[in-house]
Amino acid sequence: MAKMWAGRTTGETDRMADDFNSSIHFDSRMYREDITGSMAHAAMLAAKNIIGKEDADTLIAGLEGILNDLDNGTLAIDMNCEDIHMFVEQVLTERLGDVGKKLHTARSRNDQVALDLRMYLRGASEGILAQLRELLEVIVDQAEQHKSTIMPGYTHLQRAQPITFGHHLMAYAMMLLRDVDRLKDTVGRMNVSPIGCCALAGTTYDTDRWFEAKKLGFDDISRNSLDGVSDRDFCAEFMSFCSILMMHLSRLSEEIILWSSWEFKFVELSDAYTTGSSIMPQKKNSDMAELIRGKTGRVYGDLIALLTTLKGLPLAYNKDMQEDKESVFDAVDTVVQCLQVLTPMLATMTVLADNMKQAAQKGFINATDLADYLVKKGMPFRTAYKIAGQLVAKCIAEGKVLESLTLEEYRECSDLIEEDVFSEIDLATCVAKRISEGGTSPESVMAQIAYVKEKIAIVIY
Ligand code: ARG
Repeated sequence: MAKMWAGRTTGETDRMADDFNSSIHFDSRMYREDITGSMAHAAMLAAKNIIGKEDADTLIAGLEGILNDLDNGTLAIDMNCEDIHMFVEQVLTERLGDVGKKLHTARSRNDQVALDLRMYLRGASEGILAQLRELLEVIVDQAEQHKSTIMPGYTHLQRAQPITFGHHLMAYAMMLLRDVDRLKDTVGRMNVSPIGCCALAGTTYDTDRWFEAKKLGFDDISRNSLDGVSDRDFCAEFMSFCSILMMHLSRLSEEIILWSSWEFKFVELSDAYTTGSSIMPQKKNSDMAELIRGKTGRVYGDLIALLTTLKGLPLAYNKDMQEDKESVFDAVDTVVQCLQVLTPMLATMTVLADNMKQAAQKGFINATDLADYLVKKGMPFRTAYKIAGQLVAKCIAEGKVLESLTLEEYRECSDLIEEDVFSEIDLATCVAKRISEGGTSPESVMAQIAYVKEKIAIVIY
């Protein structure tokens, strides 16, 4: 069939070249945005007397019909078309005849595709924001339940100081809040309308770009037509957001995997979010968490693919830019899927508080508190640090813990130590005393929770 763009050419394109060139198998997911954009375009053309009002009404009704038919499945997308823009225009012309051919006045596929993609990502971002809100709510809820649950806090994956599980979870809440902020910032810059830039240079028709922008919910219009059609920063920014979010989800997943192991046994995932082994009957694997960790690499790849595609592209539109969509769609789908699985996985996760407590008691993680105790009794910190270290070494040599040393043993090292040392190095005390803002005390965790709850209400619409 003759191409809609067959102007200068008369020869047929090669079948394989056609398939290579076409993007309909992935850009068809933007049909709603494409049709909505075209409706606004038709309305603008009539408002500016570029086409007649009746023609515009016919076009809008025709477009609405196509949208309905695609939504309810009575119209199938013709995969032989080059892309979704061509498909919609082709069906419109089949249905309306010559009037259909008026739609593409004062427009190009270059500004059209830029418009569709911005609208698509704006919608996808709203969905992801709602998912992030749900995840944050689950995290905050678990954190509240475990604001006093003692666990070892780690540095270098070595037991360091006692913390609460609630505090640990709230660290992820803070990361996710930043992700929310980042996405909202990205959407702010994305919400700029390129329609009306046309092929690259603007148009000789007396168009009204603001008319279309406002109708389609944009805050601004792109101020340079070359930039308008060739800017894909919004995709790169969106995928940067996705990559950073995935990095956070991956770190959390890694911890869930570790915590689920027999070596830790801090949590038990619901059967719904684990798998067995085809050979080892005793296994309960955290496959879903591992996949989230694994898919992080894939999303980074999406970002790098786009940045590499854009690097070195001359202005304005180049066909290379068609490659933006598969990366962006893959990033959207992956993030959406990961959030869909992670949120209920966390909500149904059982926390094994006794095991956490036991692990916390074994690693001399109150040694800092012992040193601080000596400082409060008047000893310089470095000396106190040394004595606490010697006591730890003694414990290790004798198979003891700091709590099981006698007062006499303590006093052999320093006569500043008195009976109150035992309550001071009790893990619950160590945690409760860390009341500095952002610290691990239950009190501070509750303040963090209140902060996040307030932010969720304000920042996420
Ligand atoms: N399918 C194309 C894309 O995704 C649409 C724009 C085509 N424009 C062009 N001048 N060939 O980028």
